[in-house]
Amino acid sequence: MYYHRLGIIPPKRHTQFRQTDGSLYSEELVTSEGFSGIYSSLYHINPPTRIKSLKEPVKYGPSKINDYALRQTHLNTSKVTSTGDDYLSARKVLLMNNDCSISICSPKQRRMDYFYKNAEGDEVLFVHDGKGKFISQFGILDVKQGDYIVIPRTVIYKLEFEEGPLRLLIIESASPVETVKRYRNQLGQLLEHSPYCERDIRAPQELVPDTTKGDYLMKIKKQGYLHQYVYEHSPLDVVGWDGFLWPYAFSIHDFEPITGRIHQPPPVHQTFQGHNFVICSFVPRLFDYHPLSIPAPYNHSNIDSDEVLYYAEGNFMSRRGIERGSFTLHPGGLPHGPHPGTVEKSIGAKETHELAVMIDTFRPLYPTTDALEFVDSKYPMSWTDEKGGFKEVNTP
Ligand SMILES: [Fe+2]
Repeated sequence: MYYHRLGIIPPKRHTQFRQTDGSLYSEELVTSEGFSGIYSSLYHINPPTRIKSLKEPVKYGPSKINDYALRQTHLNTSKVTSTGDDYLSARKVLLMNNDCSISICSPKQRRMDYFYKNAEGDEVLFVHDGKGKFISQFGILDVKQGDYIVIPRTVIYKLEFEEGPLRLLIIESASPVETVKRYRNQLGQLLEHSPYCERDIRAPQELVPDTTKGDYLMKIKKQGYLHQYVYEHSPLDVVGWDGFLWPYAFSIHDFEPITGRIHQPPPVHQTFQGHNFVICSFVPRLFDYHPLSIPAPYNHSNIDSDEVLYYAEGNFMSRRGIERGSFTLHPGGLPHGPHPGTVEKSIGAKETHELAVMIDTFRPLYPTTDALEFVDSKYPMSWTDEKGGFKEVNTP
């Protein structure tokens, strides 16, 4: 990330910076990796440490299935219109390991009446459907369909969406989510061959310090609980900040695809990285232009990663039975590839309008109990029958 500032800050850090009544603003330094990683300084009207009351923590988290079979898996979440009432109860983790988790979230309530902080993980929200505002201590970001919202841990935020369809894909990461290292120069600037650059990254735009007093509930996610803190002042009391650590938005529609004469490998679609996983964007693009090229992907054995695809828009040429909003999990240990008939059919195709998000993990993923209701029991046999009359197998 690059240096950014918003609002008012003093010319020199850690110096006297006074409000109009003569009192000092409260400086808060938000650091990562101790003091060795990126950081930002925030200036609050009220001390960020002052709390009004503490409520009982509430257990919160998914139930992992440890003995799920080695099986090609289709989670047919396409018909889901609501996964719960509010933002946190509607977050349904479907796949997880110790490095990351993958959730869907379609809350009935469009506005959060509390603040939320993830104290143990970075989050990436992919707005599949929805338009609204991401409101944090760092300011307001207007967000819409196709946006990735990248939220470093400890950022306090709430979401307000307009009426209409709302569907979020959420990736939570135990490690920092970063731009792709091979696309950065030694000072962190995105290079010419990167599929996107700093101009495509949208920082919070508007900072409106809230001076009101009352009861402000903040739910903090850490170690299997939501810890509930009540503040007497709004957490949105920041008058200015600067640094490298801040939430931002990047639209999948601003990802410039890399294409070639023959089939390009999945890393050309990489958009973000975390420890032991990557996030990739498959966007509308021209197909391969070698005269004998085969646009459909080859069969593939990934010996040390699990591949998750979330199908966002378009026709998914190499798959049958997949719908908008579906997931597939192709685990390491099994080859996966185009469905019967789709390879020949792809020859001569000039372009694709597909839009998909892929999460490749370098350690196995586990489904959760919430995932089971979406398992398409016919999917493991879907490569076998040329006519597409899938044979059912036992649901795990
Ligand atoms: Fe693959």
